[in-house]
Amino acid sequence: MSEGIFDVNKAPVLDSAGRIKALKPLKLLREAAAIREGETAVDFGSGTGTFALPLAEMVGEKGRVYAVDRSPEMMAHLRAKDPPANIVFIQSDVEKSGLADGTADVALMMYILHEVKQPGEFVAEASRLLRPGGRLVVLEWRAEADKPPGPPKRERIPRGALEGYFEAAGLDPVSYTEWTRHDYVTAAVKRTGKSVGEIEAEIADLKALWPAHSVPPSMWQQLEDLEEELERAKKSGG
Ligand SMILES: C[S@@+](CC[C@H](N)C(=O)[O-])C[C@H]1O[C@@H](n2cnc3c(N)ncnc32)[C@H](O)[C@@H]1O
Repeated sequence: MSEGIFDVNKAPVLDSAGRIKALKPLKLLREAAAIREGETAVDFGSGTGTFALPLAEMVGEKGRVYAVDRSPEMMAHLRAKDPPANIVFIQSDVEKSGLADGTADVALMMYILHEVKQPGEFVAEASRLLRPGGRLVVLEWRAEADKPPGPPKRERIPRGALEGYFEAAGLDPVSYTEWTRHDYVTAAVKRTGKSVGEIEAEIADLKALWPAHSVPPSMWQQLEDLEEELERAKKSGG
């Protein structure tokens, strides 16, 4: 269904010091993707592991990273780096990973969406793999630029088009950042389908359980997540 066009001979460029310095993958994973320990992640088009490797470290032993790439050469580059056991290799087209509905807390599409023929279907597939409330993070070439580095303008994905794919796939955009001079990163959250009233009731239940002292950070996180979900539900008129 989709055609990868990345030239595998250019694989070493992906890990070059210049690219890492400009792209800051660790900062991107922390700030734009908000990766947490214990999460299950899918890295679509994992390439040489520029994101999959630090991601595996961030999710830790209790977490898991599915590295999906259809190129045996790219998979070989990643395997040669002695990857940790929490990286699961899936050599397949992004549309045929075989992963079950709701598998992932977070899915990454780093510089791959412009390479597939049907980006809307790819975004829908990522949404299928996410649990309700899960995040999709996309890094892409800025469409307003038309100079190297990067593909010609006609192949780039404008922000508006991407947000259209999100909407059709049941995802709400939550952030957009012009990451370097050449690219942007945007994150979207899968709708949970809960109404404002239902989320408010969950917040009230959580607060009723709130201990007087030593509130565990997992409860802070739950509260933070519910408050954000409430904001989104209010915005979308839920
Ligand atoms: C430009 S590279 C980006 C690699 C990595 N995400 C990064 O940013 O360093 C794109 C990767 O996506 C893979 N790819 C492209 N189309 C694909 C498809 N339809 N299914 C699976 N992998 C694909 C390519 O093999 C390549 O490894």
